[in-house]
This record gives sequence, C-alpha cells and structure tokens, in this order.
Amino acid sequence: MSSEVYYFSGTGNSLAVAKKIAAATGGTMISIASVAEQESIRPRADRIGIVFPCYLAQLNGIPPVVQEFVKKLRGAEDKYIFAVCTCGGYESVDALPTLKRLRRLLSRQGAELAAEFSIRLPMNNLKYFFFQTHDHDKMFRRSEVKAADISRRVTAGRREKCRLPKTLFNYFMMPMYLLLRNFYVMDLRQKAKELIDSGKRYDELIPLTDRSIFANGKCNGCSMCVKVCPVHNIVLEKGRPVFHNRCEMCMACVEFCPQKAIHHWNIEPGVKYRHPEVTVSDMLEKSGAREG
Ligand SMILES: Cc1cc2nc3c(=O)[nH]c(=O)nc-3n(C[C@H](O)[C@H](O)[C@H](O)COP(=O)(O)O)c2cc1C
Ligand code: SF4
Ligand code: SF4
Repeated sequence: MSSEVYYFSGTGNSLAVAKKIAAATGGTMISIASVAEQESIRPRADRIGIVFPCYLAQLNGIPPVVQEFVKKLRGAEDKYIFAVCTCGGYESVDALPTLKRLRRLLSRQGAELAAEFSIRLPMNNLKYFFFQTHDHDKMFRRSEVKAADISRRVTAGRREKCRLPKTLFNYFMMPMYLLLRNFYVMDLRQKAKELIDSGKRYDELIPLTDRSIFANGKCNGCSMCVKVCPVHNIVLEKGRPVFHNRCEMCMACVEFCPQKAIHHWNIEPGVKYRHPEVTVSDMLEKSGAREG
C-alpha cells in the first residue's frame, strides 16, 4: 500500500515522529505548510498520515494550518487515514479532545479518521516552565517505542480510537479546562494587541499574535527566521524581521534564531527547546527553503 505522511512542526517533535513513521511504513513525507495554500489537496497514496502538534487544547488543539489542510482535502473518502498528535501537556486531556475534533473535521469532508494516536514529547511552549522539568531523555525513548508501535498498527491497517485510561486527574482537569477557555482567549487577545471588545474569535486572533514578537538589537539580519517559518510569515525589511499576521504560534523563529534575538510574547529570548534529532536542514526542507 502506498503511503504519505503529512506533517506540521515548529520545533521538531512532530517532524521527528513523522520521519520515524514514514521510514517504517515506506511513506513519503509531505509538509502540510507546503501544500496548505493550494486550492485543493488530493493525496495520491492509499494510506495517509497526519502528524501535528497540539496547540491550545482548551480552545481547539488543531493548528490553523492543519485545519485548513483538512478542509482542502479532496478524494480522501476511500483512504485509510491515521493521525498522530504530539503534545507537551497531558495526552488524556490535551491530545484526546484534539483528535476527537480532527475526527469531526475529517468526517465533514466525508473522510474517516481510521486510527488515532498521541505521543507526549517535551513542551515547546516556553511559557509553561512547569513542563520543562520532565525527563526529556525518557520521553524521547518512550516516543521511539510508541512511533514504532504506531507504524506496525497502521501497516496492519488497524482501526482504533485513541484510548487512554481516565483517572481522577481527568475528572479534575476537564472542567478546569472549560473554565480556562476565557482566560486563554483573553491571553490571545493580549498577544494579538486587540481591544477587549474587538469580538475576534480565537482562530482570528492566532495569526495576529505575531504583533507581540520582535527581534532585539542582537539581530544581525541573517534571515534564518525567514527561512524556518513554515508559513512564510516573516520577511526581512532593512535587515530586520517583519511579521505579517499569518502566525501559527509554532516557535520555529524563536528556536532557530542563531542570535537568540527573538522575543516571543514577551518571553525573554534564550530559553529554547528543539527536538535533538531535528536539524536546521530538516526544517528548511519542509518549507521548500534551502540553507545558505
Ligand atoms: C502555542 C502553543 C500552544 C500549545 N498548547 C498545548 C496544549 O494545549 N496542550 C499540550 O499538551 N501541548 C501544547 N503545546 C505543546 C506542543 O503541542 C508540543 O510541545 C508539541 O510536541 C510541539 O510539536 P512540534 O515540535 O512538532 O512543533 C503548545 C505549544 C505551543 C507552541
Ligand atoms: S534569525 Fe535572528 S538574527 Fe537572524 S534575522 Fe531573524 S531575528 Fe535576526
Ligand atoms: S512567525 Fe514564528 S511563531 Fe509565527 S508561524 Fe512563523 S516561525 Fe512560527
């Protein structure tokens, strides 16, 4: 069976997982960002993988570019589709509802999400320092085992929903998340520098959050941020990055700036995370850009 693994990734977690699954299933890797602007997307293979990070599970979880990709899918009705959601928080309260939303989104396209999986990897949203304390090496080892297991399952054409045991923690966190929804919208509004009564929905606010990103005096105009931004949201003007309000909040520009010059949503630059196996070239390949 021919196979295509579509992926979106800002700091390499989803990219590393997609790479492993593509290698084990003989699949072709395709960057979601590189096809998302097409009018429609027609996968050629019979087995389609979608690997992506969970963003703001309290509000939706699916990055806007991945939502756009799904809405543009055509001819996927008779394909075997599987998805892997990588998350930095809790699989049962973050990845699980996100995958459920993806299932619904696909079914609106007449397609079925046949198998869904989650993998917990380090939190790349630098604001949540709490999650940075987890043992990253252990997470990487576990994620390798899980990616290998997912590859076996999808090769066998298994149909399965993501099942995670519910604990007392779940029953506590789910209502907490609902309560936090308004807080997260307020936070987005602040990052997007929108007035409190602007009436913009969360998915309209996300692209505008780059209004709170800026490069400080250490920027030397190397243009790495321009190249790694998966959605081509950055251009250099007079040697400085200018952001064009199509942000996915993916963190790639922050992470890959060699000068650690980018302030992201008022977070001091310098605290960084990237998946250790993912190189700059891997990141550039995904957007069709080249190093140098
Ligand atoms: C803007 C933003 C929001 C995020 N929200 C969540 C979340 O709600 N739940 C969660 O588990 N992880 C969240 N994360 C963490 C990422 O999902 C996680 O680190 C993911 O593996 C990153 O994948 P990538 O390296 O492929 O970009 C968030 C990350 C970012 C940048
Ligand atoms: S990557 Fe950093 S140093 Fe290079 S242009 Fe962008 S902000 Fe400036
Ligand atoms: S501007 Fe930065 S955070 Fe926004 S999409 Fe581009 S690389 Fe990601």
